[in-house]
Amino acid sequence: MAGPLMAGLMQAKGAPRRGIRLSDRVLIAGQTGKGKTELARMIVEGMQPVRVIAFDPKGELEFPSVEPARNPGQLVERMHGAVVHYIPASFDRPALEEVCEIVWETPGPYIWWIDEASEVSSPNWCPAGLRLAVTQGRQAEKMVLALTQRLAEIHPVFRSQSEHVILMVPAPIVLDLKTVAGNVRREAGSLDHELSQLHAEYGDYAHLWYVRDTDELRRCAPIPLTSPQVPAPGGDEAEGVESSSCEDSDSA
Ligand SMILES: Nc1ncnc2c1ncn2[C@@H]1O[C@H](COP(=O)(O)OP(=O)(O)OP(=O)(O)O)[C@@H](O)[C@H]1O
Ligand SMILES: [Mg+2]
Repeated sequence: MAGPLMAGLMQAKGAPRRGIRLSDRVLIAGQTGKGKTELARMIVEGMQPVRVIAFDPKGELEFPSVEPARNPGQLVERMHGAVVHYIPASFDRPALEEVCEIVWETPGPYIWWIDEASEVSSPNWCPAGLRLAVTQGRQAEKMVLALTQRLAEIHPVFRSQSEHVILMVPAPIVLDLKTVAGNVRREAGSLDHELSQLHAEYGDYAHLWYVRDTDELRRCAPIPLTSPQVPAPGGDEAEGVESSSCEDSDSA
């Protein structure tokens, strides 16, 4: 039956709030172990049914019955699956360029989940296919869901293009806060204050969710961890995903 995501949509009063759509780019930042991957998993489950292409540089994700691809040839072979799991055997740039080109040339819709964007990009470099997906993937519904521990160590295109920027508590280091502040149109000090308050109130796994279209900053309680559930197709898909436990920030 309806999971927490759908419950959130049904509870929404008045006009539906801006949720996550397949034409969106999403960036989730936070320190290690603070819930980025769990949140990404929830977002991906809430968007089903749609192909998921998971780039897993740390080799930490698990998809039952899906054999990971580890090189470009295996990626091509497995690209038609509903879930494509790629664990790079090499981080050299030509190899990353090749695999990202393969994904970019694959027709949408899909969710391209990059579980650590600083492993596949740097402030000065991003594989062309990945950069194209971020900048030009909206119309073809090539959603990019990028996660990072370090906002200042990823290519700037993720920060500038994302319709949703989600910051997990506790607050990141000052350099990272200053790096992302302009992208979410808030002062670094005010983000630091909001994140500290949120952490004090809810503890780990709470997050601030910036929505670019509406310039909202939402304060979100930790998502409840439940067993994986895939919402029934034909539900509220058009509105996309929204967390059930967010409220507007005072500084929104
Ligand atoms: N919302 C939550 N409620 C309760 N526990 C959570 C929640 N989110 C994450 N956790 C716990 O924290 C652990 C680490 O979470 P997760 O793997 O999502 O961290 P991460 O931010 O992806 O870390 P890393 O950067 O190292 O990949 C999970 O295995 C789970 O035990
Ligand atoms: Mg993780």
